[in-house]
Amino acid sequence: MSLVCGPLAFFDSGYGGLTIMESVRSLLPQYDYVYLGDNARNPYGTRSFDVVYQYTLECVNKLFDLSSPLAIIACNTASAKALRTIQQNDLPRIDATRRVLGVIRPSVEAIGEYTRTGHVGVFATQGTVDSLSYPMELQKLRPDITVHQQSCPMWVPLVENSEYNDEGADYFVRKYCDALMSQSDKIDVVILACTHYPLLLPKIRKYIPSDVKVICQGDIVAHSLKDYLERHPEMESRLTRGGTVRFLTTENPHKFKFTAKVFFSGDLDVQQLT
Ligand code: DGL
Repeated sequence: MSLVCGPLAFFDSGYGGLTIMESVRSLLPQYDYVYLGDNARNPYGTRSFDVVYQYTLECVNKLFDLSSPLAIIACNTASAKALRTIQQNDLPRIDATRRVLGVIRPSVEAIGEYTRTGHVGVFATQGTVDSLSYPMELQKLRPDITVHQQSCPMWVPLVENSEYNDEGADYFVRKYCDALMSQSDKIDVVILACTHYPLLLPKIRKYIPSDVKVICQGDIVAHSLKDYLERHPEMESRLTRGGTVRFLTTENPHKFKFTAKVFFSGDLDVQQLT
């Protein structure tokens, strides 16, 4: 079987993964990119393990149909609920030479560098919080760190509906910030462990004490991916180098273009997936 060559693929339940792909593209602009947002079935954060796994596998298969050798699940919820099963059970059957990577492991590896008190706050979807992925992964790497989790069920809908800059959003941003910070006065680092949340960063910054660091995953994932590609030249050589970017959405492409314009100027190549 000949090795498939093609774009670096990104997948998220909606727009959030764009915050990751754009950090990666600014560090590694030479590759071709394809992005798939499952906007029609968003949010994933409140869905069961089985449903998130099934949706994620469908989307990964779609990206593989577009001849991507490497797919990044730019979604914490899907990374928590589907990644391991896809890597261990599905990939060997689909094509053992391709790879699927997530966003939780690189974040957990990096987070220890930021905390001095050893108390880390995690903002995430209900699904990611319930999966206990962050506390469990950190327990393996840095058992000295205590994790304080806070789910933020209203934040993804604010982003998907382009209401993240509105005044009304402040109520829900403040509510979850207060709830997290009231868990411990030792928290000195907060990670936005949902790829949608960086769009709310200006508001989150307003309600988190100024001496607490707020970390987004984009740069962490970008540097971790660069490092991965340096260590895996057999995969790096399969990524095509045209500097193109195309988008797929399960929702209306006009809606996608409207919301994605916060990230991109010019006309976007957006297709609808049925
Ligand atoms: N961006 C996804 C994440 O990182 C959002 C999940 C959702 O659709 O609720 O978890």
